[in-house]
Amino acid sequence: MTRKLFVTTALPYANAAFHIGHMMEYIQADIWVRFQRMQRDNGVAREVHFVGADDTHGTPIMIAAEKEGITPQQFVAKIAAGRAQYLDGFHIAFDNWYSTDSPENVELSQGIYRKLRDAGLIQTKIVPRFYDPVKGMFLADRNIKGECPVCHAKDQYGDNCEVCGAAYQPTELINPFSVFTNATPVLKDSEQYFFKLSDPRCYEFLKAWLNTPGRLQPEMVNKVSEWLGEAGEKLADWDISRDAPYFGIPIPDAPGKYFYVWLDAPVGYLASLKNYFDKKGLDYEAFLRDSNTEQIHFIGKDIVSFHLLFWPAMLKFSGLPTVERMRVAVHGHLTVNNEKMSKSRGTGISPLRYLNLGMNPEWLRYYIAFKLNSKVEDLDFTGDDFVARVNSDLIGKYVNIASRCAGFIAKKFDGKLADSLSANAQEWIKRALVTPEGVERQANIAANFEAREFGKALREIMEIADITNQYVDENKPWILAKDETKLAELHDVCTTALILFRQLTLLLSPVLPGVAANVAKFLNDEQLVWADTDVASGVVSSALLGRTIGAYAHLMTRVDATMIEELFDAPQGAAAQAAAPAVKAEKPAKAKAAPAVAVTETGIEVIAPEISVDDFFKVDLRIAKIVNCEHVEGSDKLLRLTLDAGEGRLRNVFSGIKSMYQPEDLIGKLTVLVANLAPRKMKFGVSEGMVMAASAVDEKTKPGIYILNPWPGAEPGMRIS
Ligand code: 2FM
Ligand code: ZN
Repeated sequence: MTRKLFVTTALPYANAAFHIGHMMEYIQADIWVRFQRMQRDNGVAREVHFVGADDTHGTPIMIAAEKEGITPQQFVAKIAAGRAQYLDGFHIAFDNWYSTDSPENVELSQGIYRKLRDAGLIQTKIVPRFYDPVKGMFLADRNIKGECPVCHAKDQYGDNCEVCGAAYQPTELINPFSVFTNATPVLKDSEQYFFKLSDPRCYEFLKAWLNTPGRLQPEMVNKVSEWLGEAGEKLADWDISRDAPYFGIPIPDAPGKYFYVWLDAPVGYLASLKNYFDKKGLDYEAFLRDSNTEQIHFIGKDIVSFHLLFWPAMLKFSGLPTVERMRVAVHGHLTVNNEKMSKSRGTGISPLRYLNLGMNPEWLRYYIAFKLNSKVEDLDFTGDDFVARVNSDLIGKYVNIASRCAGFIAKKFDGKLADSLSANAQEWIKRALVTPEGVERQANIAANFEAREFGKALREIMEIADITNQYVDENKPWILAKDETKLAELHDVCTTALILFRQLTLLLSPVLPGVAANVAKFLNDEQLVWADTDVASGVVSSALLGRTIGAYAHLMTRVDATMIEELFDAPQGAAAQAAAPAVKAEKPAKAKAAPAVAVTETGIEVIAPEISVDDFFKVDLRIAKIVNCEHVEGSDKLLRLTLDAGEGRLRNVFSGIKSMYQPEDLIGKLTVLVANLAPRKMKFGVSEGMVMAASAVDEKTKPGIYILNPWPGAEPGMRIS
């Protein structure tokens, strides 16, 4: 049997670039998909199709296009053109990215509608609607503004007041006006098309559907049950029509009427799948009717009603059988410092800025995965926590293993791993991969990935890393390497560590696909498949024995905490002044980080992998004079330095040394500048280089950061070599 998985994420509105919340959802789904793809050769085979699309229809996009003087199609095309940089940047491997404004979606949406109509589930009703007599169009709630009927705040939207939070009908607004023309809206009767969710068949179906074990998270079952009421009495008919002018799909046999955007948006999942199958020459109809096909939607908690009421009912009563094997994975929102992200308070994170700062996308993938579970809980991003988690786990635990052992294999054994392992080494492998209760860890880890308990999976993976590091610490390859009589032992230890490192890479690869690909290259592995994690069959220990491996290249750097300051949007508007200090004050104290980098027995950071003299000369180090130095308003880490490096111009450089130096003490001093570093755009301006500074590996016991100061005689512009 083959499990056939049709996986989607919510289709984003094509009116704005992705924000970090989108990336969280895509990362979650992508990890799950990658995990499933790795299972192909493991017992039950998998066929996975992961698709997305832009959600293009509706009034806001129509209006936005109009404002720019372009067609909605042109507007949507501009947004769509920007998607790849985010998806590729964060390693999100959709098989297809499509659009709800597509021939497939028109055909499928209209087809579903016809089936619902044939089933007697469409009904028309005459409803009074607000109408702009000047523009000649019906108005959505958000296109009407007026005075709040509760607190009398002016300029409030037709559905709720942003000042007092009251929710109301647009008809209750005092002095309502159209946002397009300022005209006073008039009420005009309109024939609207409704999907009869109140039909007893819908209730009967939905009740059974949502109570099917394994389909939904328990908290979602409870929530939706409330919406149904005791006997379906709470289910109201759903208005699926909008009047022209509207950017949408025409309703068949209903001139001037269009599907409301939320009718054709989920059909866009199918449209993207169909488009992909057609391109690939695969049979779309057969796939949907296959009883092994599972349909899985990853969505946020704000769009649950559409996915747990309307969408399954639409699928069911239009005769699409995948609804029987449909599951919905609902996640919470991403918060920053436990608050909703806010541009005005400067707590928004732009995914593109993250990438442009040179921050590693796999840091974010790991951090998000570590914090995710299968519940509908909000996920909080905190800068200090992010730095501590990534540096502690990925660098201090995982990468540390390879960086401490791989070099010896190259240097002492011509890159060849040992042919066999000592009994002690085998015992350690067992200790790392099998729990004291005799459970093979990778089976637990697989079960947690499958159940979207990513945080639990990663904690277990880090237990393996801890045991491996304990093994390396106890056996000290750096000491063995100094003694020619201990070479066999060194070979044994480094081979064992790399066997466990490979196992860790395999287990982490759904989360860190880029790193895993580099490790596969370095270990001369063709492909990493889950079956290779199998302890019982002994694949783990035998796969690498006697193998010649490639040169180790550093896999990942640690997060530089100063990057976090640059990550957030600058506070905007009037809130900026007031909000900036408040946000700072809320920052929790520095998280207790485990050692963040690989450390030698003398307590210094492990020396970086060897480079050639040519590599060294790529870095242009110059003597620079600090001609000015000042505090940076709004930053508790940075000082702004004005440097003269003898170039006939001055440079602006930000440096995270505020905790150590008073600006006036630095003015007039000489220091060392990395002069050919690409300029970096930071929140506070552009930094044109970096001053060099030393710090200890363990900031807690040896705090401080010390800038370099040359001996007398050195002058600005002199090159350092
Ligand atoms: O909330 C949103 O961003 C919608 N565009 C999600 C649509 S999901 C699916 F139904 F298309
Ligand atoms: Zn109000």
